[in-house]
Amino acid sequence: MEQIRTQVGIVGGGPAGLMLGHLLSLRGIHSFILEDRSQEHVIERVRAGVLEQSTVDLLHEVGLGDRLGREGLRHEGIYVAFGGERHRIPLAELTGGRAITIYGQNEVVRDLIDARAATAEPLRFEVDEVSIRDFDVQQPKIHFRHEGRHHELTCDFIAGCDGSHGICQPTIPAAQVKIYERVYPFAWLGILVDAAPSSDELVYSLHDRGFALFSMRSPHVTRLYLQVSPEEDIDQWSDERIWSELDLRLHTSDGWRPHRGPITQKGITRMRSVVVEPMDHGRLFLAGDAAHIVPPTGAKGLNLAMADVWRLAGALDKFYQSGSETELRSYSERGLRRTWRAQRFSAWMTSTLHRENSSGASGSSSAFEQRRQRAELEYLISSRAAMTSLAENYVGVPFD
Ligand code: APR
Ligand code: PHB
Repeated sequence: MEQIRTQVGIVGGGPAGLMLGHLLSLRGIHSFILEDRSQEHVIERVRAGVLEQSTVDLLHEVGLGDRLGREGLRHEGIYVAFGGERHRIPLAELTGGRAITIYGQNEVVRDLIDARAATAEPLRFEVDEVSIRDFDVQQPKIHFRHEGRHHELTCDFIAGCDGSHGICQPTIPAAQVKIYERVYPFAWLGILVDAAPSSDELVYSLHDRGFALFSMRSPHVTRLYLQVSPEEDIDQWSDERIWSELDLRLHTSDGWRPHRGPITQKGITRMRSVVVEPMDHGRLFLAGDAAHIVPPTGAKGLNLAMADVWRLAGALDKFYQSGSETELRSYSERGLRRTWRAQRFSAWMTSTLHRENSSGASGSSSAFEQRRQRAELEYLISSRAAMTSLAENYVGVPFD
């Protein structure tokens, strides 16, 4: 077995792992990133696309703002649609100028991989047989196989950035973690479309037939979602069926509807919330989806991952500069505060905008729910305080 040494061993080369590696290399701290999928897969997979203000600021601060500045679409508002009308929430006006930027997660990942390649720091794709050990003592180890050869990577710390199906979190003894989970009775059917977006800003829509979302990736690519049942089979959704359902749920009385075009990708994603407490175990630190999952309605997943690794890099820097573990020891507590805040917001957005079932028979609890949702949305658009609450959570509070 080949022996290797680094300071921080990073399992997972998604946005969390890659960004952590970048932040560490800027501080002169060595890391070794291990990713089990191929580079093409990591770049091409279609994921989220909304960056909070703090994520955008961070990317600029760490030298990753060039393409983001040119190609990212800054949005100063979003629309909430119900009862056939669109209502604008002026995010920037309500938050002292903070906004969101549309820039695909895969573009962030592409920029991070390019930045890594410009350093001499290692990033290995297509590794397998990854396991971690000894993370409750001084020198934790990662075993992996790459190009048929076995390696033992000895580290000062391990960062578990391996997402919701990784190996780091399940390696922590079960008695030492608490996992909070909520499975939502919905899924999102998402499509990418080669068509110019028909609105300058996102539209979150509640319709009797369920939720729909209008989003985009660029001036030429529209991204659209439909609430469907978690058991739904994508093969039952022809392009024509998807378009007619999107038209029904999204069109508004002023004649607005999404532009149609060739569908280049489609898929169904189930929705759940997960929080792992604590986010650390000895010298292992979890970050991103390995530590928490949010339903996509609040667009918080990628942004939470960025906040985690920003905090972790700062704490590791303190340790290497001064030997102090104080910041490392508060990493989990500070992260969980932000995570639960994002869970609260995402759960609120989800419950306000999704239909539990669309029967709506009067007298049933779902009829009550529908009236409650309507009251929630009417209050939202009529109260500056309610809109501000949505806006400050949606654009994201500063990293802390
Ligand atoms: N060894 C090495 N890599 C692994 C392993 C393993 N055993 N298991 C998983 N991975 C890799 C995955 O292939 C993936 O590339 O870890 C990476 C985790 O990346 P993401 O799943 O993208 O998670 P993260 O980096 O935390 O990014 C935040 O939040 O809401 C989401 O869409 C958002 O994916 C984004 C995520
Ligand atoms: C997206 O564009 O993929 C997107 C936008 C907003 C969300 C979720 C996903 O809330």
